[in-house]
Amino acid sequence: MLPPPPPVGDDVFRSGLATGDVDTTSVVLWTRAAPPAAIGPTSRGPLRWSLWTEGGDQVEAGVAEVGPEHDHTCHVRVGGLEPGTTYHVVFEAFGSRITGTTTTLPTNATRFRIAVACCSRWGWPGFETYGRIDREEPDLVLHVGDYIYEIGETTPTGRMTDPPHDCTTLDDYRRRHAQHRTDDGLRRLHANRPFLAVWDDHEVIDNAPDDESMARRAAGIQAWQEWMPVDPDAAGLDRVRSIGGLIDLVVVDARFGGRLPTDTDGPSVGRADGPILSDAQWELVERAVEASTAPWFVVANQVQVSPMTLAYAPALQWPPWRRVVNPDQWDGFPAERRRLADLLGRAHGRPVIVSGDLHAGWSRGFLDDAGTSIAHEFTSPSISGVTYAEAVHDRTRLPSGLVHTILTRLNPGIDHLDLDRHGFLLLDVTADTLTTTFVHTDGTRVVRTLTVG
Ligand SMILES: [Fe+2]
Repeated sequence: MLPPPPPVGDDVFRSGLATGDVDTTSVVLWTRAAPPAAIGPTSRGPLRWSLWTEGGDQVEAGVAEVGPEHDHTCHVRVGGLEPGTTYHVVFEAFGSRITGTTTTLPTNATRFRIAVACCSRWGWPGFETYGRIDREEPDLVLHVGDYIYEIGETTPTGRMTDPPHDCTTLDDYRRRHAQHRTDDGLRRLHANRPFLAVWDDHEVIDNAPDDESMARRAAGIQAWQEWMPVDPDAAGLDRVRSIGGLIDLVVVDARFGGRLPTDTDGPSVGRADGPILSDAQWELVERAVEASTAPWFVVANQVQVSPMTLAYAPALQWPPWRRVVNPDQWDGFPAERRRLADLLGRAHGRPVIVSGDLHAGWSRGFLDDAGTSIAHEFTSPSISGVTYAEAVHDRTRLPSGLVHTILTRLNPGIDHLDLDRHGFLLLDVTADTLTTTFVHTDGTRVVRTLTVG
C-alpha cells in the first residue's frame, strides 16, 4: 500500500523532487535530502526510493546514499516500466518523506501535450509561471535552457538572489539552484511532470565566452547536473525519443555539445562558421532521421535555427551590404544550418523546430534562400527576465513596435512575433495537427496550428 503523505513542517525535502530523462520504459528520479540541523549539514545518510502504481502496488524500490559530495542530491534511473503509465514516486530519508508522480512516454497515443519553457530569472515578474505550466497538465516538459541565471542582484521584486553576487564557484551555482526550488510552482511542476532539459549559457555565464575559466564552466555544469532530473551517466544531453507514434523528438545541445567558437556575442556581420554540433551529435540526428516513422519530426535545441536578419550594414564589396545577424544562434553557423536543413528534408514526418533563448515568442517558417519552407519553428518566450524588446531598447532606444516592424519586414515567413510578453509554449500533437499555444503571463493566448502534409 502507498505510504501516507509526508508530515507537515518537513524541511529535509525542502527542494522537492523531480523526474526526467523519461522514455517509454524508464525515468530518472531526483531529490535532495538535506540532513536536519541536529545531525549536521555535512552528514551522510541513506535515502530510500520507491515507485508505485496508481493502484498502490510497489513496482520498484531501493536505497541510495546522499552526501555533501553531490550537495545531498540523488539520481536514480528506474527501468522496466510500462509505457504511458503514471507512477507515484516516494523518497524517504532522515525520518522524512516526500511524494510525487511521473508518467512514462506512450508507445501509442492519439494526442500528446508538450510544454516548452526557457529562460527563468529568479525574482523577476513571471517566475511564478512555472506553477501555471503544471496546471496546463502537459505530458512532458521540455526545458531548452537558462533554467538559472548566474547574475547576482537585487531583483525587480525587491528580493536578493542567493548568493548576492554572480555565481562563479560550485557552491554559488548550487545555492542559486536551491533558491529556484524555493518557488512553490516550480517544485509542484517538477513533482508532477517529467522533464527533458538542456542547459544553455546562463547556467554558467552569459554567452559562455571562451576566455572564462573552464573551472567556472565545470562548476556551473556540475551544479546543473546535480540539481536537474537528468541521467548523470549519460554522455552529453542529446536524446532521441519516439512518442506515441506521433512524434519523433530529437533534443540536441547546441551550446556546449560541439560549438566552436563558443564566444558568440552579437550582433555581427560575419563569423568563423565553425561547428555548432559535434560529429557524434550529427550522427545522432542522422540516425534519428533515418529511423523516423511518426507524422511529426521535432528538433529541439536552445537557440533559433531559422535565418534572422536584424539589419543590413554597408559593405565595400558586391553586394554592397551585409546581413547583420545574431551569431549566438544558428546564424553564426550557416554551413551547419544547411546540413540540418538537408536532414530535415529527409525526415519521414513534417519537420518542426523548437527553440528558446530570444526572450520573445516566434512562430515562423524556416525558409531556404529561394523562399521554400524547410520546417516550421516555434521559439518560446521567456518565463521571466528582460524581454527582447527591453534588451533592444537598452542598446538602441528603438521602441518595441518599430523593432517588431523591422524584424517582420526583414524576415519573411513570420506568422507570430511577440517581443514583449513572458510565458511558455504548449504543443498539442495529434497524427493530423500540431497546435502551438503561446501562453502568456498576462493571461493571453495565441494559437498557431500546423497540419501534416
Ligand atoms: Fe535567456
